[in-house]
Amino acid sequence: MSKVILKDKTFRINIPANEINKAVGEVAHRINIELKDKKPLFLAVLNGSFMFASDLLKKITIDCEISFVKVSSYHGTSTSGSIKQLIGLNEDIKGRTIVIIEDIVDTGLTMENVLQQLELLEPAEVKICTLLYKPEAFRKKFDLDYVAIVVPNDFIVGYGLDYDGLGRNLPDIYVLDK
Ligand code: IMP
Ligand code: MG
Repeated sequence: MSKVILKDKTFRINIPANEINKAVGEVAHRINIELKDKKPLFLAVLNGSFMFASDLLKKITIDCEISFVKVSSYHGTSTSGSIKQLIGLNEDIKGRTIVIIEDIVDTGLTMENVLQQLELLEPAEVKICTLLYKPEAFRKKFDLDYVAIVVPNDFIVGYGLDYDGLGRNLPDIYVLDK
């Protein structure tokens, strides 16, 4: 499918599944080398990262664990907009190597929130692994340890990412057709 229609918008194919698979393999390879003997705990941030997390973990060959968390967004009263709370973390992460798995780092606000909340639980180290990264939108200072694909500042869907809940099931990544 070269084009898909989701609700009122048309998207065209941007990153095909084979390219995604290759990029995921490269990130997995680095993690297998760099985090060997660290028995990392992967924390996949739902919903967007479900497909990436699944494909990535199938390529991880070192001892590891995975758990799933969610960032619940609600609108605060401050002018800064929304405050996001990390929910669903049941593991004791103290002293452990954590790898956050995200679908996309856009402005970086969500990831910054997650990082701040994890730091309070005293992990040994926290690594960030994101499928996609939009450097033009990024407004924060933290480092991204593992980035599979760098993308321009356009709205994309597929492979876990949604437009108003739709499109997460697409095996390829699509960009808004302007
Ligand atoms: P950030 O807090 O601005 O970094 O945004 C992160 C969240 O916004 C991601 O986890 C996505 O859920 C969503 N997001 C950002 N860019 C896109 C996009 O292009 N398509 C779909 N969702 C996006
Ligand atoms: Mg997300």
